[in-house]
Amino acid sequence: MDISLNELRQQMRLCTNCSLWETRTQVITGQGTLGAKLMLLGEAPGGHEDLVSGQAFTGEAGHQLEEFLQFINLERNQIYLTNTVKCRPTRPSDRGRYGPYANRRPKVSEIKACSYWLDQELKLLSPQLVITLGTVPLSRILGENTSLKERHGVPFFSEPYRTWIFPLFHPAAVIYNQKLKPLYWADLNRLRDFLQSQL
Ligand code: URA
Ligand code: SF4
Repeated sequence: MDISLNELRQQMRLCTNCSLWETRTQVITGQGTLGAKLMLLGEAPGGHEDLVSGQAFTGEAGHQLEEFLQFINLERNQIYLTNTVKCRPTRPSDRGRYGPYANRRPKVSEIKACSYWLDQELKLLSPQLVITLGTVPLSRILGENTSLKERHGVPFFSEPYRTWIFPLFHPAAVIYNQKLKPLYWADLNRLRDFLQSQL
């Protein structure tokens, strides 16, 4: 069965479905095994993922992930890590850490173009729970007008994907907006309880 996940990754690495392929260094495919019951769904790779590691959630995002996993008592290898959009979205910037580019949010058109890959990952894995980080992955699952403000910390069952979804703020957003911090930690507590009682 793992072969088909590898095949999917190989196909994904050749993708040119949206213009992000022109500026990427590499496609950041999902990581983890088919046995994972949990999927962590981020937004898109950043500079460290694209230019340095070739893996999802490394660099600053990797440190945030370690802290997060420690809190919910899970190891990195127990989770399938992936992103809504698989190539790094950039914008010109003279303050970029890795050259004259900075990260930006993926556009709706890019999210749509990339949706095939996430659908395939969800089909292959059929996880029990998907933890979404930020607005981008939650809107990808529920539709464009979804309000994370209203839905964070409240798990729901997605019929189309046959899995529980637990929406969280993106840890990077919490660093920029300190007001979100108490909400984020309250959500993590709820997530920890949910994992203990449901999975
Ligand atoms: N790195 C990722 O792989 N995903 C994010 O959402 C942020 C940083
Ligand atoms: Fe393909 Fe997704 Fe990369 Fe666009 S972001 S080129 S759709 S893999």
